[in-house]
Amino acid sequence: MLGILQRHLSGSLFLQAWMFAVHRHHGQHFSGTGLPYLTHIGAVVMTLLPALLAGEADDAELSIVCAILHDTVEDTETTLKEIQEEFGEAVAAGVSALTKSEEKSGEDAMRDSLDRILRQPRDIWRVKLSDRIANLGLPPAHWSKEKCLAYAAEGELILETLGGASDRLAAQLKMCIADWRER
Ligand code: NI
Repeated sequence: MLGILQRHLSGSLFLQAWMFAVHRHHGQHFSGTGLPYLTHIGAVVMTLLPALLAGEADDAELSIVCAILHDTVEDTETTLKEIQEEFGEAVAAGVSALTKSEEKSGEDAMRDSLDRILRQPRDIWRVKLSDRIANLGLPPAHWSKEKCLAYAAEGELILETLGGASDRLAAQLKMCIADWRER
């Protein structure tokens, strides 16, 4: 079935990226909710789209394709080389910046990723803002209060670092952080 779909979808970069993500994230679930992991990928794209439609985009296509693929390297067996071969250099560079280094952990990993995102076009910054907004919308039920507060603080760092790329997404993230802190 997916093979048939994929043949019909060739020619659309968005659908090509989507089907790539569908295959790679197949069988994964969003922690704590039982929802397919693709729920998160869809939520990131749906969060990003209104900002792009409101004109907050330099290269909307780059932004959308990187949003669809943003977790393929971090969370599946996919390599950056595959992304580069399938989707080109700019998408691979964006996905690479959005992928946390395996050699770092916690705050170091986040700061390192943010440093690398800052060196990318603002289209990639908007993906990271959308990613965090989406993650703050689907809170894992089993997280402790302490972990939630640490996650909110990390959201604050993302907002401070990348918020300049989108007034709309920055305002949305700010609201999500405030809501999250009240939980
Ligand atoms: Ni994500």
